[in-house]
Amino acid sequence: MTSAAITHPDAAAVHVDVRRISQRFSSGRGRDLLALDRVDLQAHRGEFVSIVGPSGCGKSTLLYIIAGLLRSSDGEVLVDGKPIVGPDPDRGLVLQNSSIFPWRTVAENVAFGPQMRGVAESERRSLVARYLDMVGLSKFANFYPRELSGGMKQRIAIAQMLACGPSVFLMDEPFGALDSLSREVLQDQLLQLWERDRKTVLFVTHSIDEAVLLSDRIVVMSPLPGRVKEVVRVDLPRPRQETRTLPEFGRLRGHIWSAIRQETMEVIG
Ligand SMILES: Nc1ncnc2c1ncn2[C@@H]1O[C@H](COP(=O)(O)OP(=O)(O)OP(=O)(O)O)[C@@H](O)[C@H]1O
Ligand SMILES: [Mg+2]
Repeated sequence: MTSAAITHPDAAAVHVDVRRISQRFSSGRGRDLLALDRVDLQAHRGEFVSIVGPSGCGKSTLLYIIAGLLRSSDGEVLVDGKPIVGPDPDRGLVLQNSSIFPWRTVAENVAFGPQMRGVAESERRSLVARYLDMVGLSKFANFYPRELSGGMKQRIAIAQMLACGPSVFLMDEPFGALDSLSREVLQDQLLQLWERDRKTVLFVTHSIDEAVLLSDRIVVMSPLPGRVKEVVRVDLPRPRQETRTLPEFGRLRGHIWSAIRQETMEVIG
C-alpha cells in the first residue's frame, strides 16, 4: 500500500497543503514509532474534508501538525502557499478532549478569542450570544465549566473556536463525547454554518455516517505507519440533511466501512 496524494485540478484553490509529512516518536525503549509516513493531503478553500481510520493511525497527530502545535519530523504544511511556523488564530482547533479555562465562565471562555483580537465589547457580546445559542448553551452563560457535563464542555470548545472566526477549522472528533441527539443537532448546525460561510474544514471522526453526511471528500488512513490509504469523493447533493436515505449514502458508507475494517483487522486481527 502506498500513500496516495489528493490532487485537485485547480491547484490555485489549495488552502491547506500537507506535503509528505512524516512523524517519528521516540518510544524511550530504543525503538522509534513512525506515526505518519509521507502523508500528502490538500484541502481546497471552502472544502469539507474528513479524516477517518482505525485508532492509532495518526489522525490527531496530523491535526496537531497542521495546527502548528507539533513540528513534524519531515515534510511541510503550507497554508495559502506559505509554510506554517506555529499556531495561528486563523487555524481554529477543537481537540478530542478539549480543554477550556476552568476559571472563566462559559461566556468568558467563548469571549476569549475575540478579546485577544481586540474586538470591542459590544461586538464581543453579540458574538458570544450567537455562538452560545448555536451550541445550545445560552442558559449556561454564567456557569463555570466544572458545573457542566463533558458534552457541554465540548460544546463550549466548539463555540470558542467559532467565535475566533478562523478560516480553517481543525476539528478532532468534536462531537465524539456528545449524546446522539446533541450530535445530530450540532452536525446540522455545522453544516448550515459551513454552507453559509464555506470555511475550509479538516474534520477527524470515528463515525462513518458523520463523515459521509458532512464531507466533500473523505481521507481514509491506515495505521502503523499512518498513511493515506484512499480518498473518497462524496458527490451527494447538498443540503445533506435529507440524503441519509439515498442508496448512494449507503454505498459510500459500506465502501468506507470495509476499508477501515480491513485496516483494523490487520492491526488487531
Ligand atoms: N506524544 C507522543 N509520543 C509518542 N507516541 C505518540 C505520541 N502521540 C501519539 N503517539 C503515537 O502515534 C500514533 C498515532 O497516534 P494518534 O493519537 O495520532 O492516533 P489517532 O488516529 O488520533 O487515534 P484515535 O483514533 O485513537 O484518536 C499512536 O501509535 C500513538 O501511540
Ligand atoms: Mg485521535
